[in-house]
Amino acid sequence: MIDFFEFQSRTRVLYKSGLVDELGHEAGRLGTRVLIVADEGVARAGLLDRVRAGLGDVAVVGIFAEVPPNSSIAIVERGAAYAREIGADLLVAVGGGSPIDTAKAMRILMTEGGKLHDYEGYNLLERPLVPMIAIPTTAGTGSEVTAWAVIRDEVAHMKLAFSSVFLAPELAILDPEMTRMLPARLTSATGMDALTHAIESFVGTNANPISDSLALQAIDMISNSLRAATHTGDDLEARSQMLIASCIAGIAFSSGGGSLGVVHALAHSVGGAFDVHHGTANAILLPHGMRFNSVAVPNRFSRIARALGVNAGGRAEEDVIADGVEAVRSLAADCLLPMRLRDVGVPGDALPSIAEAALGDAAIFTNPRPINYDEALSLLQSAW
Ligand SMILES: [Fe+2]
Repeated sequence: MIDFFEFQSRTRVLYKSGLVDELGHEAGRLGTRVLIVADEGVARAGLLDRVRAGLGDVAVVGIFAEVPPNSSIAIVERGAAYAREIGADLLVAVGGGSPIDTAKAMRILMTEGGKLHDYEGYNLLERPLVPMIAIPTTAGTGSEVTAWAVIRDEVAHMKLAFSSVFLAPELAILDPEMTRMLPARLTSATGMDALTHAIESFVGTNANPISDSLALQAIDMISNSLRAATHTGDDLEARSQMLIASCIAGIAFSSGGGSLGVVHALAHSVGGAFDVHHGTANAILLPHGMRFNSVAVPNRFSRIARALGVNAGGRAEEDVIADGVEAVRSLAADCLLPMRLRDVGVPGDALPSIAEAALGDAAIFTNPRPINYDEALSLLQSAW
């Protein structure tokens, strides 16, 4: 019998192809002076012009388009100071997880002041922040609907996690045309991040019947669409499926206190120490994390395997699970992703410190199987 669960999703979600072109109508209800937060890739792809045009009569008072792939405290501080200086009252974040997380963290400083470090951890915000709209251009982090922001501490070489319902954007605009320009490698890496969210939320200790239904739906959609979205970038149907699936996975893992696991803990730790894309790190670590966790919750992993398209009829559970792990591995391989940590510039002698840092990551606390240092190290070695 279920003891207790909490489910909350605070973000209003709107989906439509070309929706960005009508953005002004929605933005005007949330603010009057917009600061657009983006990265250089978004600016280069011409997407900022489209957002600006879509805002119509709503004034754009500034553009902060210098967010790097792994955003940092210094960037957040610079962005928030700029936002204050120009009197912005609405943030419109355009891009992948980094600009969206940056805007989330910026509005902590814009509303509460102080130092970002003061708000690291769970539920340290007590009131709504400066409003924001998130427009994802990857599919993705799910950051457009999550109550999380992850920001790099460039001094301590760590990733800081912030979690509060008030961090979730007021509005998420899902427009698949905004993801059309995304290069193949980023499409697949971000798609594997979304798959990792769905799988880790389904087996995590905060999983509940509502998040379960979302997670399984997302796994099914991603396993059916990621190859097409990667190899045929213009396939708007595949792009649409991936964008919606990553949003669903975001709601699944973020609702009810958050539920990720060892794969994200290790990926955060890898990304904190080396310049490895978050989705790529997850893609490499996911099959190993699944294998490690499957002994704790085998029934959950056989349901995941079925959602991945594995035929379970009359077969032994462990074979079904093994096929599920293989389905994830071959999905990543088919989508052009590197398969080993050594292939992405992680030196073997860094594994002990990565394992150590991962044990302190917030994501590890909802992993379904307890993990100690030796086990984390051996998981990393198998992925190296
Ligand atoms: Fe992630």
